[in-house]
Amino acid sequence: MSLIRRFTHVSPLQEYLLERRDEGLIGFVPTMGALHDGHLSLVDRALEECDTVVISIFVNPKQFNNAQDLEKYPRTIEKDIELLGDREVVVFHPEFSDVYPDKAYEVKLDLGNIADVMEGKFRPGHFDGVVTVVSRLFDIVNPDMAYFGEKDYQQLAVIHRMVEVQERLVEVVPCPILREESGLAMSSRNMLLSYEDKTKASGIYRLLNEAIQRIDERSPKLLADELRAEFTSEGFDLEYIDITHPLTLETLHNEWVDGARIFIACYIGGVRLIDNIAVK
Ligand code: PAF
Repeated sequence: MSLIRRFTHVSPLQEYLLERRDEGLIGFVPTMGALHDGHLSLVDRALEECDTVVISIFVNPKQFNNAQDLEKYPRTIEKDIELLGDREVVVFHPEFSDVYPDKAYEVKLDLGNIADVMEGKFRPGHFDGVVTVVSRLFDIVNPDMAYFGEKDYQQLAVIHRMVEVQERLVEVVPCPILREESGLAMSSRNMLLSYEDKTKASGIYRLLNEAIQRIDERSPKLLADELRAEFTSEGFDLEYIDITHPLTLETLHNEWVDGARIFIACYIGGVRLIDNIAVK
């Protein structure tokens, strides 16, 4: 018998969580579904640390700046439930009108540089949509802990800032990137790749990993320029490569700092992929 409780509407979920709050911590894993082992690692971490774990599965139209991207985004709710297996979790899979009874609902915060660069620059409005939905989901679930993957490292920085600005009590827990055997970062979008494109996509981690071995002889700017040339010559349709400070996300030019990170966004077979790696 499945130990999963499913909710579509806000009030029954909140009534259930009101009871559960007396049992201890509520952990929350917000997702857009098409679950994979990366998501499951967040769920398992939440199960270790919390008494009740809520997973939301909602493809949030407000964070897509490209209608085709939204349309193509995989929706696999029954398979997602199956993947959660015998985990004792709460799944919240609302309709648009459950999340946004007011269609025009929007949360707009001034998040500064961290939301303007990289994803913010190439996907205008994306982080406004993320902040809007995560803020609304936090209001609905009212979690003690919320788990986010470092594959969306910039999103994680935005959520940290949002929590600070909104003075929320939730603890945001960053979780490491899970990779396939080939090195490809796990992502719901990987299921849109053909076999050949998936093989090609494994080059992302290979090139990033090779790059972090050479930082002693190069400035961040030189390394970024080299990487752009390498990705382009291997036929990647590159959107950006940036090497930044891990907290401010400001581009590094001449000097390395502790924890510097390399970020990439590119298209393979029309599928947009992002990845990042810490420079040791
Ligand atoms: O990372 C994601 O899947 C989404 O951006 C999130 C946090 C679930 C908000 O829709």
